[in-house]
Amino acid sequence: MRHLLGAEGLDPAQALAILDTAANLKRTLLGREVRKLPTLRGRTVITMFYENSTRTRVSFEIAGKWMSADVVNVSAGGSSVGKGESLRDTALTLAAAGADCVIVRHPASGAAQRLAGWLEAAGTSVVNAGDGTHEHPTQALLDAATLRERLGDDLTGRRIAIVGDVLHSRVARSNVHLLTALGAEVTLVAPPTLLPQGVRNWPVAVSHDLDAELPGQDAVMLLRVQAERMHGGFFPSAREYSIAYGLSERREALLQGHAVVLHPGPMLRGMEIASAVADSPRAAITDQVRNGVHVRMAVLYHLLAHEEETP
Ligand code: CP
Repeated sequence: MRHLLGAEGLDPAQALAILDTAANLKRTLLGREVRKLPTLRGRTVITMFYENSTRTRVSFEIAGKWMSADVVNVSAGGSSVGKGESLRDTALTLAAAGADCVIVRHPASGAAQRLAGWLEAAGTSVVNAGDGTHEHPTQALLDAATLRERLGDDLTGRRIAIVGDVLHSRVARSNVHLLTALGAEVTLVAPPTLLPQGVRNWPVAVSHDLDAELPGQDAVMLLRVQAERMHGGFFPSAREYSIAYGLSERREALLQGHAVVLHPGPMLRGMEIASAVADSPRAAITDQVRNGVHVRMAVLYHLLAHEEETP
């Protein structure tokens, strides 16, 4: 694998190989006092974030460090981007400085793909850490890792509802691609105003009625309402959204006993999810964050490690 730009087109065998590697890494490091493997010693990983992030940036940094890579963080605010340098020139500069892998988050859909084209000659790998409303493939992989832990390795036939602001969600797009490729049955549950045009052509069911969908699901993945991408205002209002699509305690009681609740974070407690549900045993939200480190270690391993360097 040279780059990880999206879950779309990711070979299911490749996705499963990453997920299995992540599970092995988690087992290997469990309970160790020093969580460090020599696998990527001498490799340089640069994170380049043009949008805010806590989980993705931190877990990529930890992942690189636990694999003994040298990790350098570049943010738009503190770099020459602030002086007007283009994405292309910034990327070529980082490659010339010795980056083996650039991890990029950018507000423009397609930015990671463009970057991969510019860095082709340099031989630098690119990982998409979220591009506009397009894709966030490592989020989908860590979600799948968490679902496999809770529901079993084979997600074939598992019913998963993705709820909320699908329109602006790269997490939803990546999860639709990955989960359907792994055999899951996905239902998108959202108000009509927060669904993309053409959604009826996606390999998913679509519903506007959360109460009706909850009893049949093995997992419910709530999405963040992305107010920052809603330039024309937010309809329904926050209150209407919470009433119709928030996972309240009453709604949580509609779920089957084994059903899992996921949220990619950051979450709006009280609007998208009741605090009591977010903190309940069926919520896997901190597991998602924990698995994010192992999944990102696995991605870096599959991109950068030599074949003989088994983690
Ligand atoms: N889920 C996710 O991408 O979170 P961050 O924006 O904090 O990285």
